[in-house]
Amino acid sequence: MSIEFSCPMSRRGLLGAGASLLLTTTLRPLPARATAPVDRRIVAAPTRARLAGEGHPETDVWAYNRTIPGPTVRLRQGEPARIIVENQLEQDTTVHWHGIRLPNAMDGVPGLTQPPIKPSETFTYEFTPPDAGTFWYHPHANSLEQLGRGLAGAVIVEEREPVTVDRDLLWLLADWRLTSEGEIAAGFGNRMEAAMSGRVGNTVTLNGRVSEQEPARAGERIRLRLVNGSLARVMALRFEGHRPVIVAVDGQPCDPHEPKGGRVLLGPAMRIDIVIDLQGEPGRRYRVIDDFYDGLSYWVTQLAYDEKAPMRAHPPDAPLRLLRNPLPEPALADAERHELTLQGGMMGGGMAGVGGMMGGGMIGMGSRAAWAINGMSMTGDGHAGMKPALTFQRGRSVVLTLRNQTAWWHPMHFHGHSMLVLSRNDAPVPYRQWQDTVLMAPKDAVEVAFIADNPGDWMLHCHVIDHQMAGMMTVLRVT
Ligand code: C2O
Ligand code: CU
Repeated sequence: MSIEFSCPMSRRGLLGAGASLLLTTTLRPLPARATAPVDRRIVAAPTRARLAGEGHPETDVWAYNRTIPGPTVRLRQGEPARIIVENQLEQDTTVHWHGIRLPNAMDGVPGLTQPPIKPSETFTYEFTPPDAGTFWYHPHANSLEQLGRGLAGAVIVEEREPVTVDRDLLWLLADWRLTSEGEIAAGFGNRMEAAMSGRVGNTVTLNGRVSEQEPARAGERIRLRLVNGSLARVMALRFEGHRPVIVAVDGQPCDPHEPKGGRVLLGPAMRIDIVIDLQGEPGRRYRVIDDFYDGLSYWVTQLAYDEKAPMRAHPPDAPLRLLRNPLPEPALADAERHELTLQGGMMGGGMAGVGGMMGGGMIGMGSRAAWAINGMSMTGDGHAGMKPALTFQRGRSVVLTLRNQTAWWHPMHFHGHSMLVLSRNDAPVPYRQWQDTVLMAPKDAVEVAFIADNPGDWMLHCHVIDHQMAGMMTVLRVT
């Protein structure tokens, strides 16, 4: 059972609310603003990276500013940002600022929202992020290969009042399929895989390298911004001996809560911010285990405590709740209601179903389609002239029911908006979770709500990139 996090309160009770006692466990706020200069020019180019660490071969990758992951873009909430992207690849690219509610023309979808950035050209992205939180950026052109070869980075929009912790850490997790020589395996867009789980790799990196351990200090309170930058790998992270508290999902603050069974479920493209009080023993190591796939559990890293005595006797008393972002509250009573049904794939009455949909309006390269939404398969990364599946008047409240008729998991991402997750399989979803990427288990039905307040044509697609490429994509229009 998940519980509302209440330890600080009960501890306060135990201590008889003795303010002077509590002083010993107070935290000093971290500086609210980055002091380092903001990196505002981003160059996509081939380079080499040592993903597996010292003593292992380098890998040919494609990277932003020659680092894996790309530079963390730190922005300030409500302050205009200008980011120049230069393309030094030998193919077109774009950058999508995943999860940020920005003007349509800055959304980075080739054909639909901007012309692709040609080799040796640049494009200037300008927007003012309304929401603080953890976001990320990645290409939206030849996405399978460009993301699969390393093009990804985090965006941190800083809170005006951050939650008080000793360290604020980012773990950008990525999944690679490497050969025994350490090169990225060929075979992007394998059709069989595309109709199944997608390209799940064999090497998971944390901030660009395989991680043996991450330093920890007993008594510390850390904030961990988890980003799943994988093409296809779903993760379920357990922190041995620790109790993470989720404070934000997809950048949006939620009611602080412990995840069900202590497992942090992180679909591709999702972000989860957790706060952990490091209550382990000095000198010990604790594994961070991903056991999402049955029988294929592995550890992502270990929390390695140094030998120092705990820096405080008790977890700090500071509250964990983040300030909410200015998200417009949908009016559920008079919302428009629509359904989007996810169809196709192997073993789900799928391929036959998609075949049967050919007459029902296949778009794009029909032969590559393995998936569909409401009987339509839009394939690729985005292109001009995509016909919207639904059109909303600006300002309307919308309740969408997403139905997964397939036998596979799908992290469904909607551009330009955040969606309040209302229910899953008829059970209300607690903790007020706003998401831009909703992970759907096989056969799940999830109800989400939002105000269609951002004009433009917005993509909605599965973030298992093989699924997106093979038809699990559509467009919603706000007029
Ligand atoms: Cu992060 Cu259209 O995607
Ligand atoms: Cu999918």
